[in-house]
Amino acid sequence: MQFLKEKKKILIIDFGSQVTKLIARRIRDLGVFSEVITPIEIKNIKSFNLIKGIILSGGPSSVTKRAFQSIPKSIFLKKIPILGICYGLQLISKLNGGKIKSSKKRREFGRAFIFKKKNSLLTKNFFRPKMSVWMSHEDAVVKLPRNFSAIAYTKDSKLTIIENKKLKIYGVQFHPEVTHTDNGKQIFKNFLFSICRIKKNWGIVSQKKRLIKEVKNEIKKDRAICALSGGVDSSVVALLINKAIKKKLICIMVDTGLMRKNEFKYTYKAFKKKYGLNVKLIDASKIFLRKLKYISNPEKKRKIIGNLFIKIFEKEAKKYRNVKFLAQGTLYPDIIESKSSTGSKTSKIKSHHNVGGLPKKMNLKLIEPLKEFFKDEVRILGKSLGLSNDIFNRHPFPGPGLAIRIIGNVTLEKIRILQEADQIYINELNKSKLYDKIWQAYAALLPIKTVGVMGDSRTYEYTCLIRAVTSEDGMTADYFNFPKEFLDKISNKIVNNVKGINRVVYDISSKPPSTIELE
Ligand code: XMP
Repeated sequence: MQFLKEKKKILIIDFGSQVTKLIARRIRDLGVFSEVITPIEIKNIKSFNLIKGIILSGGPSSVTKRAFQSIPKSIFLKKIPILGICYGLQLISKLNGGKIKSSKKRREFGRAFIFKKKNSLLTKNFFRPKMSVWMSHEDAVVKLPRNFSAIAYTKDSKLTIIENKKLKIYGVQFHPEVTHTDNGKQIFKNFLFSICRIKKNWGIVSQKKRLIKEVKNEIKKDRAICALSGGVDSSVVALLINKAIKKKLICIMVDTGLMRKNEFKYTYKAFKKKYGLNVKLIDASKIFLRKLKYISNPEKKRKIIGNLFIKIFEKEAKKYRNVKFLAQGTLYPDIIESKSSTGSKTSKIKSHHNVGGLPKKMNLKLIEPLKEFFKDEVRILGKSLGLSNDIFNRHPFPGPGLAIRIIGNVTLEKIRILQEADQIYINELNKSKLYDKIWQAYAALLPIKTVGVMGDSRTYEYTCLIRAVTSEDGMTADYFNFPKEFLDKISNKIVNNVKGINRVVYDISSKPPSTIELE
């Protein structure tokens, strides 16, 4: 990754946890620049002068095994404050003479109540009565490393927070970076400002200039083509690149036929007229539908859609001279969940279409200026680029569109049914002023037909699933607690108005263990 080499920073060493990037996120929220690297990249660091603190992430490795991911011991002698999280704490312990055991008795997953044992700079203003933290570990430190003391404990782990006050080395067994940990932000606040004594130096809007300059320098005299879907991410990318290279950016809107009802036309007009972008519309709905025929495997669907997108872009690009770049609205979470940007062991959950579905050989060079940012950072950036509320407040919409919300094979009829139901749902959310309280909401069509009764007749129709989640960045999510009246209304409206649906269910799963999308 390595950007902004000249800035004071917090270095995050990624041991492959699914939530490492949330650490970067929390630190950025606090206005401090951070950089994520893999343990093997440490040897490339020429000077530690600008590194004001080091955070060791969690990860799937185990220090109880013969081979485990590690860092040079010399890091502990650099007089740079260190905070180890989960595996990071275990690694600090192992390398400093502590003892770690893997034990079913001591493992903790999910919520655990934490209790204070001693004051520490790291936990100033952190503890509250009856507070819980989020755990995910099987190994536990059973003997303190040399010159460390215990700061807090839980029922199952005596050494939940430890410190070596003199060397400013700290370890927490829980994950302060996830929202399920009460007051987790305070741990980072204390680490950054009281322990590392770094000053605020990061803000998304202040990155705008740098991003525009980088894009300009990269594209130079060539032209870029941009995949514009009308969602927040691609819209921000288009506006940003447009600022850098103006009319040399060609925005292609591909109508896959898998968008929300009427959304496509509306967005197309807005971008052309309001934002003055150079937009070209391509109707590819027939070919998408044909390629998806009989395909019900989610990964296959994603790959087909991703590949088709790229093919269409490449074909379009050939129509213009000097098009060398393909700009995409890929975000940090897309990268993490498809494959790790740092080459670490983060395991693959889904192939997000903008990343995982790309063919190995591509004639266009990818340009992804948002790939280091989280969704709400992108929203802030969008606002500062003049994107209007109706676009930047829109709920996220996945690249593969309704294809991954129609479970099983996709047909024109199912798309029609789902578009109708989804429109009713989203309209009702707006009318009830609930839309802005929800991070993402959508309707999906399940491949299950069940029996119902309408009037005096028997029906045998599809089931519509509605989903609404609260989240900060899509990495973790909770289902939204609707008032019963809203659920009654929505179920009634959908069944009464959409031919093909006779049952509505509400998805009450959180992420994890579920994901936000169904496929
Ligand atoms: P999951 O289902 O992985 O979704 O919990 C997390 C967030 O990512 C969105 N999503 C995608 N966005 N291309 C995208 O641009 C994709 O292929 C894709 N798949 C999921 C999803 O809507 C949610 O906001």
